[in-house]
Amino acid sequence: MKNTPIDKNTPIDYDIVKSVIDQSGIEDIGKATIREIVRLIDIIEKETGQKYIRMEMGVPGLKPSTIAINAEKEALDRNCAASYPPLDGIPELKKETSKFIKNFMDINISPRSCIPTSGSIMGGYATFMVAGRRDPKKDTVLFIDPGFPVHKQLVKMVGLKSDSFDVYNYRSDKLKEKLESYLKKGNISTILYSNPNNPSWVCFTDEELRIIGELSNKYDVIVAEDLAYFAMDFRKDLSKLGKSPFQASVAKYTDNYLIMISTSKSFSYAGQRIGLLAISDKLFERDFEDLSRFYNTINFGYCVVQGTVYSTTAGCSHSAQYGIAALLKAINNNEYNFIDDIKEYGKRAVIMKDLFLSNGFKIVYDKDIDEPIADGFYFTISYPGFSGEELIGKFLYYGISAMALRCTGSEKTEGLRACVSQVNPSQFTDLENRLKQFHNDFKTS
Ligand SMILES: Cc1ncc(COP(=O)(O)O)c(C=O)c1O
Repeated sequence: MKNTPIDKNTPIDYDIVKSVIDQSGIEDIGKATIREIVRLIDIIEKETGQKYIRMEMGVPGLKPSTIAINAEKEALDRNCAASYPPLDGIPELKKETSKFIKNFMDINISPRSCIPTSGSIMGGYATFMVAGRRDPKKDTVLFIDPGFPVHKQLVKMVGLKSDSFDVYNYRSDKLKEKLESYLKKGNISTILYSNPNNPSWVCFTDEELRIIGELSNKYDVIVAEDLAYFAMDFRKDLSKLGKSPFQASVAKYTDNYLIMISTSKSFSYAGQRIGLLAISDKLFERDFEDLSRFYNTINFGYCVVQGTVYSTTAGCSHSAQYGIAALLKAINNNEYNFIDDIKEYGKRAVIMKDLFLSNGFKIVYDKDIDEPIADGFYFTISYPGFSGEELIGKFLYYGISAMALRCTGSEKTEGLRACVSQVNPSQFTDLENRLKQFHNDFKTS
């Protein structure tokens, strides 16, 4: 059980782990932030020479395509670093983003309304600044949780309120009543969710997206659809240009939307900080009188680009824009299949989940409505009798790290989020051995 003292014969030297934790000054290791855990593990790895199975951070674990890198290099050689990029993006990137969205989502958004931002996080910031402040009566952002903690931090920074619910028990037709119970209060400006969902890997169905879209029309709420894991529901072949199945989207059911496509995971381009914010053309053109409190104009699109992007980052890295423009062009011309590369994450998830399940662990978010949860970038785990925080503390001695679900707005406090991206298949044997030992040490019967 959880209170059993750890047998000192742990996979990672017990005394070293204990002394690094003691010296860190962190009183309750289970409550440490991800960055604190990362720092502790870095020290322990250095002192012991042993590698952890690192599942705590959602960073890409694959190489980016040389198409993007070479295009960036060429753009730098052409001296793009010396000039400011256009605030709303270079024309090639805007055009290829619009085509990409048509090809993979079957949605029409004009190049004008496709704007590169300094990472998708920046797209979220611009969204909250404009969509979240367009009407003083609508001062609250609704998160369909679990979700990405940074978004909640952004909402707080912008001075807005937030509300949220864990969607796991409100799937399919149950979503309508639950969502409407929030929207009918009249204070919600924006609904945000990620799809596939970080961390649960739940994927909304078209029926659910229709519910969200129809309610956003009824209550004039803007839907911020976070596609940080674009096309990563590997149960479907989303790789065929212009052919169904497409990446599912609320854009089929409302014009009150903006889409955030991150290049970090789907294109392994996290380091260059470029994301794609695509705003519905109708929303881009809408005017909201109350935006004049913050901007020189009341036009939505203008407030995003000339107002927010200009006065924060003044655009997005010039060379990265050329890189992603070239990459999207190759994808749109059917010369590069990005999904073939990232399927690796799904393959790792199959094996890793199996190792956890064979050693007494459970998958926390185990169902996607009536199907088993898909295999993707994340999965969620728990061990009987342990809270997420307790598990993190014990895992440190077993050479494993993951993130507590509690900080994602999840109601499942017993669980952890495991990210597959940084775990190299060559570490699977270590993972298996460490999980076996953990189970031997802590199983109740
Ligand atoms: C759900 C979700 N949204 C947004 C982001 C941010 O992506 P980016 O790296 O493009 O800023 C992440 C990154 O982990 C994420 O998981």
